[in-house]
Amino acid sequence: MAKNTLTVTDNRTGKQYEIPIEEGGAIRAVRLRDIKTGPDDFGLMSYDPAFTNTASCRSKVTYIDGEKGILRYRGYPIEELAEHSNYLEVAYLVVKGELPNEQHFRAWEENIKTHTMVHENLKAFMQGFRYDAHPMGMLVGTIGAMSTFYPDAKEIMNLESRRLQTRRLIGKLPTLAAWAYRHTRGLPYVYPDNELSYTGNFLSMLFKMTELRYKPNPTLERALDILFILHADHEQNCSTNAMRSVGSSQVDAYSAVAAATAALYGPLHGGANEAVIRMLAEIGSVKRVPEFIKSVKAGERKMMGFGHRVYKSYDPRAKIVKRLAYEVFEVTGRNPLIDISLELEKIGLEDDYFVSHRLYPNVDFYTGIIYQAMGFPMTMFPVLFAIPRTSGWMAQWAEMVRDPEQKIARPRQIYIGENIRQWTPIEKRPAPTMREDAVSDQI
Ligand code: SDX
Repeated sequence: MAKNTLTVTDNRTGKQYEIPIEEGGAIRAVRLRDIKTGPDDFGLMSYDPAFTNTASCRSKVTYIDGEKGILRYRGYPIEELAEHSNYLEVAYLVVKGELPNEQHFRAWEENIKTHTMVHENLKAFMQGFRYDAHPMGMLVGTIGAMSTFYPDAKEIMNLESRRLQTRRLIGKLPTLAAWAYRHTRGLPYVYPDNELSYTGNFLSMLFKMTELRYKPNPTLERALDILFILHADHEQNCSTNAMRSVGSSQVDAYSAVAAATAALYGPLHGGANEAVIRMLAEIGSVKRVPEFIKSVKAGERKMMGFGHRVYKSYDPRAKIVKRLAYEVFEVTGRNPLIDISLELEKIGLEDDYFVSHRLYPNVDFYTGIIYQAMGFPMTMFPVLFAIPRTSGWMAQWAEMVRDPEQKIARPRQIYIGENIRQWTPIEKRPAPTMREDAVSDQI
């Protein structure tokens, strides 16, 4: 019977090594350290910049099959959750691992609503930002500041403390996000209205003006709730990796979520749908699409909203978002930029460059035109991503905290710097010459 092992021959010594292949088709990188040329040899390492082929953990939260375009939260297909569920129920599923029954859902909903209010000093903290502060920058700073309001969060090994911080963060993110938006508009902050749904309350804190009570448009409320479902988790993406890595130092969850939010701020991650809108606006019309495609194929720029580290087929979330766009446009009016998106997608799915690079629309390709049609400024797009992803970050963080195999993250490196050199007094030093390979050291 075939053995579940890898036999490696080190041609430097002729020695053979048998390495077990673990579940999921991985080998433990630390076994490479056994491969040495002599007793003083440190042994081999694996080298994997950006971890393109490295599993950092075992997780039960999200399953993705990039080849088949499959995405499941705790085994449930994203298409079914988007069709039948709501965000709060999906947050429960992502965090706790099972769908709640009616009683548990009501208790969960109550627990989250208990935490929608924010300490008045945090409000004062947010009011200290410049009038034109980017709401994502405000979110990073304010979530980090929350760690000073909840010192109990340092008890990360205490299950009840982890549960309480999870409820606080899921409950408060919409409030902080809405207040960041109101700040950029110079509008008074709107307090939570717990009579509304999770997403309806968020819309109220964003858009309530002088009316006594904000009434969310049900189509937009449902559309945003589905978008929250689609963004709840996505296995070991850049921001989740930040959450796990920073969390591995046993810092409190607020500091780790601030780090994850900072990672999401980047244009290649949560900032992608803002970059998509800028790209569509720059293209300007359908007739200029071929010229733009040419520049992408020439390697002069990327087609934002296309491509994915894992999906080498159509991102299943993008299909749902594309359908949602038309429902939203029924209420808001059609966003003309969608014509350019459709033309880009049509070419992108046919042109050999995109097909050979296995580039397909990802979740960000259509979300931006929906958010824009709903009246959100582009600076709010990554904020709309951070709100729902908080449940995924907290689920992944709790998994890391409980995982007996996990310890403080501390990767190795391949040193390519200078060999030993002796210090010389300043008067004896020549003008430093920047060798061409020193470019990477220049800031
Ligand atoms: C999200 O990880 C997640 O799960 C993230 C996310 C989540 O829910 O958490 O799904 C959300 O962040 C989606 C991705 C949003 N970002 C963008 O849409 C930005 C544009 N996309 C690219 O930057 C890129 O596709 C990435 C970053 C998404 C993935 O990049 P990879 O897997 O590291 O691929 P790569 O950059 O190594 O590119 C491989 C090749 C390169 O060409 P060659 O040098 O081999 O010739 O494909 C090319 C790239 O130039 N390429 C693109 C391209 N993406 C990759 N060319 C044109 N347009 C693109 N969008």
